[in-house]
Amino acid sequence: MTAPIFVALDTTDLGQAEGWAKAVAPHLAGVKVGLEFFYAHGAAGAQKVAAHTPLFLDLKLHDIPNTVAGGLRAVLAHLQPRYINIHAGGGPAMVSAAAEAVAAASPNTRLLAVTVLTSLDDADLAAVGQQGPAAEQVLRLARMAKANGANGVVCSPAEVGMLRREIGPGFDLVVPGIRPAGAASQDQKRVMTPADAMAAGATALVIGRPITAAADPGEAARQIAESLAR
Ligand code: C5P
Repeated sequence: MTAPIFVALDTTDLGQAEGWAKAVAPHLAGVKVGLEFFYAHGAAGAQKVAAHTPLFLDLKLHDIPNTVAGGLRAVLAHLQPRYINIHAGGGPAMVSAAAEAVAAASPNTRLLAVTVLTSLDDADLAAVGQQGPAAEQVLRLARMAKANGANGVVCSPAEVGMLRREIGPGFDLVVPGIRPAGAASQDQKRVMTPADAMAAGATALVIGRPITAAADPGEAARQIAESLAR
């Protein structure tokens, strides 16, 4: 059994990304590639990484419904990731167009919505005309995303317990901002350990540097997986 963790491959180096994917594959659920990697290497690069382990394609699409659906169909013609995501802020019609496109193009792919970026605080929300506090906006957007066919959301450690209580089971909560006990938090402000995040109701976790910056990423992945098995 692998641990429900996707390793963030935040690099533009294809060889490095493949090496990390190979090293963690025996221990963890998969890897996450985002805009940095995808703009550098496209679907062909993502396919190379996905040959080793399942993929979370973190592309955060946000456009009119027709364009988002078309973009998803185009990418899912080449890749069948475990997760792909959009911005919930695109609205109900965009979320439901995305959900339909994913279900038709890649039935085993789960569609996640991004609610409020964790880089935004209440003052930033006010600056873009969104009603805070951030936690309420997160819940509002998560409920809307679920009602329109999304399979889950990406959320911070600060929100995972609240969302699981409010939304119930069967809706994936995928949580970055995770640090093993004793690890440096780097630029993450509010962090949780893998075990605490799972206990709070996370479905899967996203962990980057504690694994990719380790001297032996495979061993770091193995230890984190073991900390969840206890
Ligand atoms: O290295 P680290 O574990 O901090 O990496 C976390 C990953 O999760 C990065 O790819 C980051 O962009 C992503 N992420 C995050 N916080 C969010 C959303 C995504 O850290 N709110």
